[in-house]
Amino acid sequence: MLIVFFIIIVLVLYWYGTRTFHYWKEKGVKHDEPLPFLGNNFKQFIQKASIGMMANEMYKKYPEEKVVGFYRATAPELIIRDPEIAKRILVSDFSSFHARGLNPHRTVVEPLLQNLFFGEGDLWRLLRQRFTFAFSSGKLKAMFPLITKRAEKLKIITEEITGRDFYDARELMARYTTDCIGECGFGINMDSLSEENNQFRRLGKRIFQRNLRDIVCSALKFIFPELAKNLTLLTPELEKSMNKIVHAVLKERDNKPSGRNDFIDLLLEVKQKGNMIGESIEKKNADGVPEIVEMELDDMLLIAQVFLFFGAGFETSSSASSYTLHQLAFNPDCQVKVQEEIDRVLEKYDNKLTYEAVKDMKYLEMAFQEAMRMYPAPGYLIRMCTVPEYTFPELNITVHDGVKMIIPIAAIQTDETYFSNPEQFDPERFRDGAKDNSKKFVYLPFGEGPRACVGARLGMMKSMAGLAAVLQNYSVEPAKCSKLKPDPDPAGIVTEGFVEGLPLKFKKRLR
Ligand code: HEM
Ligand SMILES: *[C@@H]1O[C@H](CO)[C@@H](O)[C@H](O)[C@H]1NC(C)=O
Ligand SMILES: *[C@@H]1O[C@H](CO)[C@@H](O)[C@H](O)[C@H]1NC(C)=O
Ligand SMILES: *[C@@H]1O[C@H](CO)[C@@H](O)[C@H](O)[C@H]1NC(C)=O
Repeated sequence: MLIVFFIIIVLVLYWYGTRTFHYWKEKGVKHDEPLPFLGNNFKQFIQKASIGMMANEMYKKYPEEKVVGFYRATAPELIIRDPEIAKRILVSDFSSFHARGLNPHRTVVEPLLQNLFFGEGDLWRLLRQRFTFAFSSGKLKAMFPLITKRAEKLKIITEEITGRDFYDARELMARYTTDCIGECGFGINMDSLSEENNQFRRLGKRIFQRNLRDIVCSALKFIFPELAKNLTLLTPELEKSMNKIVHAVLKERDNKPSGRNDFIDLLLEVKQKGNMIGESIEKKNADGVPEIVEMELDDMLLIAQVFLFFGAGFETSSSASSYTLHQLAFNPDCQVKVQEEIDRVLEKYDNKLTYEAVKDMKYLEMAFQEAMRMYPAPGYLIRMCTVPEYTFPELNITVHDGVKMIIPIAAIQTDETYFSNPEQFDPERFRDGAKDNSKKFVYLPFGEGPRACVGARLGMMKSMAGLAAVLQNYSVEPAKCSKLKPDPDPAGIVTEGFVEGLPLKFKKRLR
């Protein structure tokens, strides 16, 4: 009797753990054999590979396919190998893929996740509409003096680390980025450049470094979505710290823009415009015209955006700029060119690192773009199908509501088909800018379409200012422990990191 019972339990569990595995097979989409409950994602659940590493591995494994199937636990996902199909998802048929679907449940949304990056549907549409202006080049220009001030401080800390056997370039640029976010994002001078472990840097680290609780919670949410509904992806303490910091700043400003031109000012300006109103992307009237939707921009929503600007700007910028330093260390000819350009341009601008000066550093921009090609900090883009069903005309494959599309940009950008000699750092590829490659959808470090990075210009200008400040007075060289191809960190979530960081030797520049 007991045996029968046991067998039934096992069978039911087996059925539950494999219930979706016919999805790609029926459609004739190639994929690896999935495991019950875990799908193809075992290595990621146990932190042996990041989401980006898995997607990029699949890209390389099926060179003949335009798309490859994947099961994250039991949820089917599609890995896109073809730039034309990527274009459909990101741009031409965006209205069928307007969500990222990063919150495993589509109903319960944690307060801090109600932001531009994680937000879905009308919440996203209204926020994006309202916030796009906050990232205009006029606003960026007004903010730039705050950034240059931080870049000057970056020199001081670089001075402190010269002469050491090595220093993690990633850590150096993270300290600069944190400082910029403190200054531009929160309007508080956190002085992270002089005090190694302040509360702010810890908060930055905590957002991206997951502890056991976070790993277990997110795995559970994917494997048993129904049972794990009340577990939060973010640690509750994160919400508390964010609330505390932002409320303190808002109070200091009496809820009015202060004239500092930082993010808090921008948010307060945005808020003063009243409720967010716009056309719905989810609801249509009987005659097919989109409904008009309205939403209040309350304090919690504001805090969620601040949290995002912290998170989105932090890892991405510091990864991209430190990897640029890493490649310049291994390519001294390019480094000299960058430095000579910095001298030339700064001389023209009265030795001041202004917005215009940074914009004028063309070769530095090429080097930065080439670094982002070899190592795009978020290794993949993600979209979720938001219509009941969608058929890719060139494949005659139909996907359904909730199925996610993964575009593994790290693999695409290092594919020989699109970039000859892809392992070679060669800024000349971007001599005529990045447009050619972006148009072909083979170079997407900031994503594409209506959900592309809103902070691209800011991220780029801020990183370039930091690089220019360092390289004006210092040079980088590989240290004894530097590796040309550093080992990727399997624990990365949004961005891909390196296990041992990016150790480099910093020297005073010889002229
Ligand atoms: C070098 C620095 C940066 C890189 C490489 C980068 C990269 C990206 C990428 C790849 C995406 C996803 C795009 C897509 O799915 O198509 C994204 C989205 C986003 N990024 Fe950035 N980013 C950078 C800096 C910043 C900064 C400084 C901010 C703001 C402070 C920012 C704010 C955002 C936001 C809000 C989104 C979501 C946009 C939406 O869904 O509407 N990023 N970024
Ligand atoms: C889960 O959360 C919902 C609403 O957020 C609440 O009503 C319910 O009681 C919670 N369940 C448990 C088991 O905590
Ligand atoms: C597309 O696939 C469907 C079902 O899989 C099939 O009935 C139909 O004939 C196919 N159409 C084309 C043009 O191949
Ligand atoms: C950096 O180099 C410039 C130009 O040579 C020089 O004027 C400046 O004093 C240097 N700054 C530091 C911190 O060494």
